[in-house]
Amino acid sequence: MKFRIQRYNPDADSKPFYQDYDVEMGPADRMLLDALVRIKTVDDTLALRRSCREGVCGSDAMNINGKNGLACTTKLVDLKEPVVIKPLPGLPIVRDLIVDMTQFFAQYHSIKPYLVNDEPPPEKERLQSPTEREELDGLYECILCACCSTACPSFWWNPDKFVGPAGLLQAYRFIADSRDKATNERLDDLEDPYRLFRCHTIMNCVDVCPKGLNPTLAIGRIKSMLLARVI
Ligand code: SF4
Ligand code: SF4
Ligand code: FES
Repeated sequence: MKFRIQRYNPDADSKPFYQDYDVEMGPADRMLLDALVRIKTVDDTLALRRSCREGVCGSDAMNINGKNGLACTTKLVDLKEPVVIKPLPGLPIVRDLIVDMTQFFAQYHSIKPYLVNDEPPPEKERLQSPTEREELDGLYECILCACCSTACPSFWWNPDKFVGPAGLLQAYRFIADSRDKATNERLDDLEDPYRLFRCHTIMNCVDVCPKGLNPTLAIGRIKSMLLARVI
């Protein structure tokens, strides 16, 4: 199969460039990650992140034929050749397909991604009814791969001010959790022209999420809650 991969070593190259690879696939190669690992056997200078190869760790997110996705869950048979692979857009390149996720995780941490509850803990655990637990479906499955936030034009322009779809999905995950008692503080924190309201509902985020999640829906629910507070 033919691949065209963006290469860039900031210490050695003046700008990114494409390198072409023509590789013989093995009988067990099914996914793009298999191909990239094979390419590394002929060129071990190619840098990329990966770990679980099961769509769980979120580390091999990249831009594949113009669309963000996970290499390990992208089938080779579905890809048009040459397969053009670039790092996730909008974040600084550390090297080749590895981007600096500092800003992405800074936004994630800014929404306090943990339960806040000052009430004395019960003897065993804070229980939820099945219905309360169901509220978290479509939210807790996020693997923080950053496919969504790095496909979002609003995040490209304001990564330091706009929380981005991944962080906002997580913000709603804690707002929606019956065990969390900081809903008002969380809404106060997001009631800001940049942190939440930079989302213009373009829905790139929904289009690329490899877990089939819907950050736009979560963002809409936060906006509705803010509106309900005003009314
Ligand atoms: S819907 Fe909002 S968060 Fe999603 S890509 Fe568009 S602007 Fe970004
Ligand atoms: S919402 Fe989807 S695309 Fe965004 S970080 Fe989570 S799993 Fe990745
Ligand atoms: S290697 Fe973990 S999600 Fe792809």
